[in-house]
Amino acid sequence: MILLGVNIDHCATLRQARYREAPATTGGAVEPDPVTFAVLAERAGADGITVHLREDRRHIQERDVWRLRECIATRLNLEMACTPAMTEFALKLKPDSVCLVPENRTEVTTEGGLDVVGNRARVAAVVDAMNAAGIKTSLFIDPDEPQIELSAKLRAPWVELHTGAYANAYHGADRAAEFQRLRLGAVRAHELGLVVNAGHGISYVNIAEVRTLPHLHELNIGHSIVSRAVFTGVEEAVREMKTRMNP
Ligand code: PXP
Repeated sequence: MILLGVNIDHCATLRQARYREAPATTGGAVEPDPVTFAVLAERAGADGITVHLREDRRHIQERDVWRLRECIATRLNLEMACTPAMTEFALKLKPDSVCLVPENRTEVTTEGGLDVVGNRARVAAVVDAMNAAGIKTSLFIDPDEPQIELSAKLRAPWVELHTGAYANAYHGADRAAEFQRLRLGAVRAHELGLVVNAGHGISYVNIAEVRTLPHLHELNIGHSIVSRAVFTGVEEAVREMKTRMNP
């Protein structure tokens, strides 16, 4: 069984489109509530809930994260930049896991993997702090050997392989090459003892191939599930994705 982490950021994006200036993140006219989305996703079989608390707070707000910490029954995975402020926040929140991601204010979404090799000391400091606090760390990396090898050396228990380049190439000439890159990355990470997760740009269509990657533990999927939920409701959207992941 491949597990499903549902990323609910874009439920918050919809709320912020209208209620960015509202004094509260929920109640009154403020909608939709990402915590309600998370609870419905769990009811439909989500194995965990993922949120990215971005520095610019463009979608998920701190209050959402604290409410999730109290309300969800599965696992809370906090995506975060590798900064002292976010480390302090995570140590207070105590999510079940954190996923370290690169963050660039001008990007529409997380565009590339974390450069663990280029930011070794910063990444190591956060992994050590999380290991000491009993919080599992996942490193969101491109499926490239130097990044994978250093992730294992820094004692991060998990990696999340960035499937964005594959998803972008899905309808083009580079699809097979990008898939092979992911396949080799998953094999190498598994050989080194890392738990292999993957995410970004996974859809109801490309999941048919993504699910065949070796050693997959969990997929983190957001935009396509939130988009589908607009038409079918949250529970149907989550159930459908889980079925396609594990037919
Ligand atoms: N995993 C990570 C680390 C991400 O940053 C994101 C995007 O926030 C996702 C998974 C989910 O990507 P998508 O919304 O394209 O499914």
